[in-house]
Formats: sequence, structure tokens, C-alpha cells
Amino acid sequence: MDIHRYLADFNAKDIEKEHYDVLIIGSGIAGVYTALEIEPMYSVAILTKESIDISNSVLAQGGIAVSLDKEDSPELHFKDTIYAGAGMCDEKSVWVLVNEAVQNIESLCKYGVNFDRESSLELSLSKEAAHSKRRIIHAGDTTGKEVCDKLTSVVKERSNVRILERMFAVDLLTWNDECKGILAFDEEKGEYRIFLSKAVVCATGGFGQIYSNTTNPEVATGDGLCLAYRAGAELMDLEFVQFHPTVLYHKENKSFLISEAVRGEGAVLRNCRGERFMPLYHELKELAPRDIVSRAIFEEMRKTGSEHVYLDITFKDRDFLENRFPNIFRTCLSYGIDISKAFIPVAPAEHYCMGGIKADVFGRTNIKWFYACGEAACNGIHGANRLASNSLLEGLVFGHKTGKEISEALQNRVKEEVCFEGFYITDREFSQINAAGLRRKIQEIMTRYAGILRDRSGLSYARDELEKMHRNVCNAKCKDSKDFELQNILLLSRLVVESALEREESRGAHYRTDFCHMDDVNWKRNIVRKKA
Ligand code: SIN
Repeated sequence: MDIHRYLADFNAKDIEKEHYDVLIIGSGIAGVYTALEIEPMYSVAILTKESIDISNSVLAQGGIAVSLDKEDSPELHFKDTIYAGAGMCDEKSVWVLVNEAVQNIESLCKYGVNFDRESSLELSLSKEAAHSKRRIIHAGDTTGKEVCDKLTSVVKERSNVRILERMFAVDLLTWNDECKGILAFDEEKGEYRIFLSKAVVCATGGFGQIYSNTTNPEVATGDGLCLAYRAGAELMDLEFVQFHPTVLYHKENKSFLISEAVRGEGAVLRNCRGERFMPLYHELKELAPRDIVSRAIFEEMRKTGSEHVYLDITFKDRDFLENRFPNIFRTCLSYGIDISKAFIPVAPAEHYCMGGIKADVFGRTNIKWFYACGEAACNGIHGANRLASNSLLEGLVFGHKTGKEISEALQNRVKEEVCFEGFYITDREFSQINAAGLRRKIQEIMTRYAGILRDRSGLSYARDELEKMHRNVCNAKCKDSKDFELQNILLLSRLVVESALEREESRGAHYRTDFCHMDDVNWKRNIVRKKA
């Protein structure tokens, strides 16, 4: 793939530099929790391209999976995670996830996170798809917001941590295969900045914005994966993209999640004729793994010629629903849907990327001093399909381990200041790119040809179209973050399509209509890396 090493032209000697011990890109749960776990003797800067309170984590509704019930155990949580992952999970990483869950939830409680409780000693546990036990702790139906608000308020009090908002991380600065810092674009000043550091952590979340409909916020454009790729980091499992089965389908809103916890409370799915259909598709019915439910909905939509199906929770009374799902109740009502009386129109939408920057459980990547955790990283815990409510947990467990690992590594590092005097000058010129229009076009291509169902001819068409777009824009100079995002969305879409073409089988969230079965004989992981 012919891409520039840096998205911007620059000469480091002309740009003022700031030094930190650790730079963290991204202000979701993984980024902020990593910052809290780094020893206070080290200076840390969190760079976020928007404001600190905008991230995918904030939108998480359902909760956090943790085996607390006396009938539950990390072994059962492990088994459920492996089953959902369709043979692609890295078992060692999954053990770390399930075994270290409790200690991190205890830390959240100490930070003051208010989970719903049965009593002063016992947290309430709910059920979600493919979990064999009730093990989801929650704060109403806005768990992500409760956790992120608390962690953010704690990190703002830390004197060693600085939060740099509206600071777009454009590229990693590397020298001799070592990470030296970040080239960033200061949105407010409209100029480039250089931040040098002993370690950089990428916690930028996912890339839902490569699709037309996603539960992710506008900022989820996969910038972290792209800057890692351009610098030579390995990415893996990019073909596995999870579509959440139940996202509100309303003309004014097609991105609002209707949490799986609603199905956990017994809600059933009906097609547009009012017929319940999940029992025809899987023995776990509405609580089958997400990829299976999403494909079943897609099939029912195709069969009935409808653009959505319905979720029916009308058998629960209004008081219960208002209490247990206040945000969902209120939001649906604002669109004229009283969920205690009416079915909720829903359709699948992109929700989570199982793939990411290849990292181990300590966040280490193949580039020295460059780490990744949270959705931006891939250590194999989700395999081909993530188990519900394992994602906030992932941010906590691996954010904790990454923060501790960096603190230890810095103790042994020579105390010299990091320097970088490189430059990257090309003949790129400013030209009129219609970033918004091209973004929409990429999203349409990806939704149609690299979405829930894929095949060789559709993927090949998508690859060729994206390639043409790339040739048209790769030599255009970026003027602002929308241009950077466009370049990143385009690069990631091409990488997802290449990986999806490569995998000639169906597994978890990757479904090829021309290769409908799992192929355990030719099984392999797709690892992509920019050619030197
Ligand atoms: C949900 O509440 O359905 C989302 C939870 C998750 O993505 O794990």
C-alpha cells in the first residue's frame, strides 16, 4: 500500500517542543485509567482531539462483566468469552481479563463509581447475550458515563497529569524504530505542535465511522490505528467488526443504542409482521451471541423487505422500565415511542472493532516505547466476536497493566531527555477535498460491501473504488482535522477490506456468503504491517 510515512509535512527544528514522560492519546476509559495507574512521579499528558468528556466509552450503556455471583466464576466468564469469540480468542489474554476483573472493579468503587446495588454489600447483576450467568454490573443504563465522569474528575485532580483538548494526534514520531513522541495539530491555534516523551500510549478507541450507521460518536475514526500503521506497527484481526443487533431505527436517529440488557430482561425480537423469529435461528434465542442475532435480523429484514425489526419489552410495566432503563425510556419517548406500550424499531449498526494495534497484555507493541490498550488495541481477548460488556472491562484491566508496565519500564530508563530533529517534506499541495462528501461515500461503500454480509465480488469492488479515491486524495495536503480524519478513514477502510478478502471463511462477525463455513484447517490470523 503506497502511503506517506507522515500525514503532514514538517521540519521538527521549526516547531517548538514540549516534553512529558508519558503521552496518552485518547480520553476514553482506557486512556484515563492508564493515566491514573502511572506513578505520580512521572509527568503525563492526555491528548484528545475533542473535549475530555467525548468518547465511545461514555456512551456505553449495559455495563461491565465480572463474575461476582456465588454461582459464577472466572472460569465460566472465560468459557463464555471463548465461545463468543468463535475460536479466535487468545486464551492467555482472556485469562488475564477474567482473573483481574474483580480487583479493577474494586478500584472503581474506591474512586466513587456508583453502581446499582442490591444492598450496601452487594452490586446488582444483570444478564446479557451469551453470558451463562448474571454478571453485568451497571449504573442504570448509562454505565459508561458514570464510570468516565468519576475517572475524569479524579484525573483532573492529579498534579502530574495535563489534559490537552482539541489536540489532534497526527503521527507518531519515530527514530531507529523507537517511538519518540507525537506530531499533533492544535485545532485552536491551527498549527502543528511536537510533544516528545519517553513512552506513548494509544487509547483512541474504535473506527465505527467507516460505516454509515454506528453507535460510535463522530470522533471514532480510527486515527490511532492509522498513526500506528504509518509508523510501522502491526495491526491484527481488522476484518472482525461487530454490529450491535439493536440500535434505534428512527428517521431522526439511527445511532442510539438499545442496550442488550433490555433483551437480558426478557425483551423479544419481532419482524415487521409482529412474528418472533430468534427461536428459529439459535437455541439461545434473543440471547445468542451478537453476530448471530445481527445476521438473523438482517435476514428477517431481507425476507420481509423492511429496513428494521422490532424489540418488544411491552410486558414489563412502565415503572420498572423507567427505573431500570431511564435513558432508553426517556430517549425513545422523545421520539414518540413509549416502550411500555409500543415495540421499538431497531436495526443492526456498527458497534465495536475486535481488531486493532497488535499488543500484548502489558500494552507493548512491536515499536519500542509505543503501547496500546482498549478498543484501539488487539491482544486477542475478543477473537472474532466480542462478548457483551467485556469492553469497558478491557479498558480497565489492560489500562491498569499498561500503566504499571510503563511506570516500571521508566524506572530503568536512562534519564536523558528525548530529542527528535527529523523532517518530512513532500511536494503535496493544498487542494479542495470535499472531506464530508468523500467520508459519506466511503461509509456507503463499507456498509454495502464490507458490512454484516460480504463476498469476494463486493469486497473486490470496494477495494477498487477505495483505491481510486486514495489515488485522488493521497497527495493532497491536509488543512484541518476533518482532512486528517478522511485520510485515516480511507486507509482503515482499505485495510479492513483487504483483511476481509484475505479471510476465505465465515467466523464470528466476519461472514462471507461465498465461504459460509469456518475453516479450521487453513486457520490463520491476519496481521498487517506497512511495507518499509
Ligand atoms: C449494550 O449495552 O448492549 C452494549 C454493551 C456492550 O457493547 O458490551
